[in-house]
Amino acid sequence: MNEHIHAHEHPESDRVRGGGFTLWFTGLSGSGKSTIAHLVGPELDRRGCIVEYLDGDTVRTHLSKGLGFSKEDRDTNIERIGWVASRLTRQGGAVVCAAISPYAETRAKARAMVEQFGPFVEVYVKASVDECARRDVNGLYAKAFAGEIKGFTGVDDPYEEPTSPELVVDTETLTEEEAAALVLAKLEELGLVPAEVAA
Ligand code: ADX
Repeated sequence: MNEHIHAHEHPESDRVRGGGFTLWFTGLSGSGKSTIAHLVGPELDRRGCIVEYLDGDTVRTHLSKGLGFSKEDRDTNIERIGWVASRLTRQGGAVVCAAISPYAETRAKARAMVEQFGPFVEVYVKASVDECARRDVNGLYAKAFAGEIKGFTGVDDPYEEPTSPELVVDTETLTEEEAAALVLAKLEELGLVPAEVAA
């Protein structure tokens, strides 16, 4: 144990830079979470935020590699994303998370971790199972309905709808660009990003 390093490091590690927040997209597979996240992110960057993305599909290739889709594994995945988001929020980042995050209690845990350091803005990307299955971007709904994949969210696994998210964007009635604009407007309203300056 090196006491010198500990005495020196601890105050540094507790420092909160301020200005950070986490934007948390939740919704069914194929609802549009990632697409909207990647429309919002570059705009945040343009407005001066330091942006980092934590997307379920990507996180599952490294940080959560090896995890499956049992409730336990999904909870572990979400808690990992929440923990990293909290650290980046503490350092002043604009953290853009997109994962199904089907369980309300686990989303609340992620929120609690982040809120130690900055705001947590939950956006429910809403689209029905029928609509997501119609889009079936990667063919997984067809497999789930055929019984080839078990425990698929919305088909034979739960999705607990958020009861009090900061924002709901319905992608059955909005385009992805319109949804992204509503997210940015909400962030402006909350005072987290400066409003668009007229040219
Ligand atoms: S979460 O439940 O842990 O939040 P996450 O967002 O990381 O899920 O991963 C969801 C992605 O994994 C889906 O978009 C889909 O491509 C893929 N996937 C594979 N199996 C399943 C399943 N059983 N349920 C939901 N998504 C699945």
